[in-house]
Amino acid sequence: MQNGKILVVGATGRVGGAAVEQLLEVGFEVRALVRRPEKGARLRSLGAELAVGDATAPDTLESAVQGCSGIFSALGAGPGRGGSEMVEYRGNTNLLSAARSAGVGRFVYSSVLMADHPLAQKVGAFREKARFEWELLAAEDVSSTILRPAIFMETLDMMLGGPVAFIPGRQRRPISLIAARDIARAAVRAFQEDVLGRHEIAGPEVVTFDDAFERLGRGRGKKIWMLHVPLISLSVPGRFSSYTRELANMMAFFDAVGFATDPSVLRETFGVPALTIEEWAREDR
Ligand SMILES: NC(=O)c1ccc[n+]([C@@H]2O[C@H](COP(=O)([O-])OP(=O)(O)OC[C@H]3O[C@@H](n4cnc5c(N)ncnc54)[C@H](OP(=O)(O)O)[C@@H]3O)[C@@H](O)[C@H]2O)c1
Repeated sequence: MQNGKILVVGATGRVGGAAVEQLLEVGFEVRALVRRPEKGARLRSLGAELAVGDATAPDTLESAVQGCSGIFSALGAGPGRGGSEMVEYRGNTNLLSAARSAGVGRFVYSSVLMADHPLAQKVGAFREKARFEWELLAAEDVSSTILRPAIFMETLDMMLGGPVAFIPGRQRRPISLIAARDIARAAVRAFQEDVLGRHEIAGPEVVTFDDAFERLGRGRGKKIWMLHVPLISLSVPGRFSSYTRELANMMAFFDAVGFATDPSVLRETFGVPALTIEEWAREDR
């Protein structure tokens, strides 16, 4: 597919926002689903059409999908907002139903690496993405692409407090990271080149969390100090905060299993020359 209109869901987010920009750049028309029109001003200025709707409200999706040739969903409930089941599973299922009713035959979905790993099922954002993956794969009248990205490089910034990186757990196992922009690039290629199926995607390096912060510091020209916090220290606050509980379960999963994948897929299957952590850090200074 080289042109046509793509409905981008999660368009005000990191991956969805980058996808809107890149789809427009290569000649697609874009309709961006937004919950609040004021958040869509930047998308409109780029050239996207806005559709106001909510993935959890099916009646708002009928008109949003009309006339589209494809859907890109980078929907995210966000950490601790407690909405994984409602947003990531039901929201995406509602989108898929709306697409099928309107005869939209192409669906590209940004999920997460290892979504269905048995030890990741305590993490709502993983479990509910895995459930939706099955729904999407079972929809025979829709051609689907499932992207399973590694940890976003942008997440490293969320772990920083000034010059200190707070790392729950010892985290000695290998992990992969990817820039949100490169996930969007893979999504655009999936539409352009009809890349179907499920693909794990990651940037070029397989590192530990400590290595990742060292590279981030080098790219930014700043020293980053690593502070490892015992996982157990999250268990009491985790009783009162769904955000902390979800974070603790996810970091315990990374600590036990790691979170690494083959870096060659992004380049070889999608033709995306992915950013390294240092390159991303220099660009994002
Ligand atoms: N962070 C990581 O390391 C990582 C790794 C792998 C996968 N992922 C996953 O990748 C996906 C994209 O991540 P991201 O960082 O780009 O997400 P993000 O910046 O948090 O954006 C989430 C988007 O979803 C939208 N949204 C939430 N609920 C909605 C609803 N009910 N109806 C319509 N839109 C709704 C938000 O809209 P509003 O602006 O209105 O809130 C926003 O546009 C997420 O599912 C995330 O879990 C993240």
